Amino acid sequence: MTLVHDTADRAARIAAVVADIDTSAAIDNDFYRLWMGGPLPYPAVAVFAREYLARTRFTAVMVALSVLNTTDLAARVECVKNLYSEYGNGNAEKAHLVLLENFLADLLSRLGGREVSTGELTLEEPLPSTTAFSAGQRELFSSTDQRVVQGALLAQEHLAFAMLTRLYEGVRNYKPLWPREDDFHEACEYFYVHIGEAEKEHKREAVVSAAAVSRTEADFAVVLRAYDAFLTLTADYWRGVHQAVAAAG
Ligand SMILES: [Fe+2]
Ligand SMILES: [Fe+2]
Repeated sequence: MTLVHDTADRAARIAAVVADIDTSAAIDNDFYRLWMGGPLPYPAVAVFAREYLARTRFTAVMVALSVLNTTDLAARVECVKNLYSEYGNGNAEKAHLVLLENFLADLLSRLGGREVSTGELTLEEPLPSTTAFSAGQRELFSSTDQRVVQGALLAQEHLAFAMLTRLYEGVRNYKPLWPREDDFHEACEYFYVHIGEAEKEHKREAVVSAAAVSRTEADFAVVLRAYDAFLTLTADYWRGVHQAVAAAG
């Protein structure tokens, strides 16, 4: 068993794993190109909203599972910080899921010219590819092997920052729907919270926690396998969303 003793070394190795994440199909994909390429009609945006919400509504639950299923104390503490942030740093109105639901309902209401409630966003069943993503994600985060959980979390948090920046760039295509410049930016709180701070912190925390459970070469290998599995799940998810959004547009 080869031990990697130095914590800084371990963190540097984990950081090297995620360094080229933006070249993976989970980020470099056709959906983001379509989304950022220009405004889409209501039916296409409605499909995006449904699938994105169906996927994202479990994010905080996954972080909660990472707390439960990580035994290493230092790693668990990092997961707790992430979880607290997902729930609005103690303010229910600022829970990330609430900010997302509010934004999506606002965007669809403006685009559709009628009031769209947050409840309406969940009326239809998600795509099979989205359901497959959620099932695969839950399986990884429910693992009794903390290295699997931390590999998945490492991927989830590093994908999230890149995802939020790309989704936000696409959202800017709809800015004229808000009557005043400042109204648009007020509405975009979900994105600013993530890009400005939350996902940057979550990335740092996930590197620390993944490094904490990677004491041996074998540990690194398990973390890496789970990380790759999460990238694949995510690439498949966006492929499904792209097909459905393109078909609806
Ligand atoms: Fe979040
Ligand atoms: Fe996050």
